[in-house]
Amino acid sequence: MKNSITIAVGCVLLTACTHAPATLKDALAGKFLIGTALNIPLIEGTDTLGVAVVRQHFNAIVPENCMKSMFLQPEEGRFFFDEADAYVAFGEANKMWVTGHCLVWHSQAPQWLFVDKNGNDVSREVLIERMRTHITTVVSRYKGRIKGWDVVNEAIMDDGTWRPSKFYQIIGEDFIPLAFQFAHEADPDAELYYNDYSTAIPAKCEGIAKVVKAIQGKGLRIDAVGMQGHLTMEFPSVEQFEASLLAFSALGVKVMVTELDLTVLPSPHNFSGADVSANFDFQQELNPYVDSLPAAVALVHQNRYVDFFKLFLKHQDKVTRVTLWGVSDRDSWRNGFPIPDRTDYALLFDRSYQAKPVVEEIVRAAKQ
Ligand code: XIL
Repeated sequence: MKNSITIAVGCVLLTACTHAPATLKDALAGKFLIGTALNIPLIEGTDTLGVAVVRQHFNAIVPENCMKSMFLQPEEGRFFFDEADAYVAFGEANKMWVTGHCLVWHSQAPQWLFVDKNGNDVSREVLIERMRTHITTVVSRYKGRIKGWDVVNEAIMDDGTWRPSKFYQIIGEDFIPLAFQFAHEADPDAELYYNDYSTAIPAKCEGIAKVVKAIQGKGLRIDAVGMQGHLTMEFPSVEQFEASLLAFSALGVKVMVTELDLTVLPSPHNFSGADVSANFDFQQELNPYVDSLPAAVALVHQNRYVDFFKLFLKHQDKVTRVTLWGVSDRDSWRNGFPIPDRTDYALLFDRSYQAKPVVEEIVRAAKQ
């Protein structure tokens, strides 16, 4: 009797296992890490359905907002680490590759960082010291626990010139190698990345390549270029993305797709970047799928996602991680960018946290 129960239970389990849908992380194991960005409800665990998807499908995480400098150091010398600590603990508890995002970025930086008491720009020396303090404090706190850092984010414009950020205007080009040096001194074992959007634009790709060479030329560590991957239905083509991927890889660094999402919504005036300061007025005709996404559009969206994953798989010797910018469509920043209050379908899981058919297609592509 006992034996037959055991056999029956075994059969049920076996059946369940055989029919369990494959997960992204299992299908992509040994090829590249598959990650997602965590918002506060995921980090704090209040989004229980979302957390279940993260645990099931992903083996790498990045913080969507909580490690940006305006949140970590809103006032000079006053650091707030509660959310960041919880984020790192989540990754460790789930044995995930934990990335830090981001140490030096012109956006979501606190106002005080660049000015003195009178509101005038600080000197070069002062800004270098502030940058050093921020990087050293943050990187040291997670030494050995955060495995890789987006050290500098978005320093190059689409035409390949320097972004006229306060870091660039006050310190000059050296702010990048200095940032990489400070990060490396704080945790010599951590991987260090340069991260940017619209990297498939040839001029921008060339500008970033110069940055990488400048870091390497000073004998400093740089492990990878992060290609953000905020895609639209029109831009870039898979071939354009591949050209930049190969150009970065030829510099002797790895490539990561760090912030992947694919908007289905029309872009205002062919806008295709991820400059977070961009915003356009809401227009109803630019928000066509409020109730649902027509099947035909969903299919084009799915095929485009799969084509990009096939590209990443083709170059799995160069690509070490692919990270989605969020879990479910419900929480995607694309609903609010570059136009507020729209309904987008940019990610791999729908608003009820169900895997879209694209997940199975990616699994199939990985197995081929
Ligand atoms: C975005 C977040 O998703 C939003 O919640 C926030 O309001 C603005 O920033 N490039 C980056 C990310 O490197 O940090 C940005 O994240 C998206 C563009």
